[in-house]
Amino acid sequence: MNVEDTFQRRLRNLRISVTDRCNLRCAYCMPEEDYVWLPREQILHFEEVSALADVFMDLGVDKIRLTGGEPLLRRDVDGLIRLLAAKPRLRDLAITTNGVLLAEQARALKAAGLHRVTVSLDTLRPDRFARLTRRSNHAQVLAGIGALPAAGFTGTKLDTVVMRGVNDDELADLIEFGKTVPAEVRFIEYMDVGGATQWSMEQVVSRAEMLEVLGRRYGRIEPVVEESTAPADRYALTDGTVFGIISSTTEPFCASCDRSRLTADGVWYLCLYAQSGVDLRGPLRRGVSRDELTQLIADTWKRRTDRGAEQRLRLRDRTPLVQIGRLREDPHLEMHTRGG
Ligand code: GTP
Ligand code: 5AD
Ligand code: SF4
Repeated sequence: MNVEDTFQRRLRNLRISVTDRCNLRCAYCMPEEDYVWLPREQILHFEEVSALADVFMDLGVDKIRLTGGEPLLRRDVDGLIRLLAAKPRLRDLAITTNGVLLAEQARALKAAGLHRVTVSLDTLRPDRFARLTRRSNHAQVLAGIGALPAAGFTGTKLDTVVMRGVNDDELADLIEFGKTVPAEVRFIEYMDVGGATQWSMEQVVSRAEMLEVLGRRYGRIEPVVEESTAPADRYALTDGTVFGIISSTTEPFCASCDRSRLTADGVWYLCLYAQSGVDLRGPLRRGVSRDELTQLIADTWKRRTDRGAEQRLRLRDRTPLVQIGRLREDPHLEMHTRGG
């Protein structure tokens, strides 16, 4: 069964956050000194996640991405991957990781049945990495990326959040690095999501500006023409290298958004910018029937009106989405809880 929301957008793509914890403190996501974490007893067990995934798949979901926090911090995450990978209806099973623990886990992830890996990589310079993430694991991240081909992974992507004055002079270097992996590099506009408490429009490098800078270096850049609901618009250099730009801030793609996210404690959010979500853990743990859960999820999706990024675009004075006080009261508003 397929369900559509009020803008005829299908429910297809589920992002499952497996932990709100992270071993980095990226400036665009976790800039604060301390955080309020989700209570441990509320974190879904793998069997619970798997049961919810079945219900979502009944309703048309065929793409699942595991996120965090940092998903590789979740103990034995390959066990969850094994449960999900065994579901024949799942077309695509991916993970978004910061790469720190990847070198040691890559083989186990592949053996468990994971299809693809996306690694966040914002800089090639160790000193910048240390400033940007307040940790010094840059070499581990590069080793993690390097371990992917040997573990048998293809289709690897590298995600770079571009921030003015921080890493915007590294776009070409990152594309060149991507060729060596090999991996497709995607540049992401800095977004004013929950958690990005230091965001300002001045630090956003727009897609247009990125293309201009890269055009000066590489010459002709052709858009890759394709039908897709993916957030990245893809471009090709004359040598055939393809890279992507995710222009969530200046040119949002809400019109075709088929994604929603489940937090590690089982709250379901229909939009990255949504201020509230639907608790699925409660009903699940109360033992409601699969039909009732299906009904709850289907009815919620059918009422969905979210176009968060587009609404933000219409604001004249744009400041961070959520102030720190409210984030402390409700950590579900954080990007690191919601998983991007
Ligand atoms: P693919 O299946 O590989 O295309 O994955 P993806 O691009 O959906 O996943 P990924 O986690 O790599 O997403 C990249 C980044 O795009 C995220 O980290 C966010 O910054 C941004 N992004 C993802 N989903 C959304 C969304 O629903 N809305 C907006 N505005 N941005 C999103
Ligand atoms: N802007 C854009 N992307 C963000 N992410 C987290 N915070 C932001 C933000 N403020 C995304 C990045 C990162 C992933 C883990 O989450 O893509 O690589
Ligand atoms: Fe950690 Fe990822 Fe958030 Fe960066 S974006 S702080 S790597 S969860």
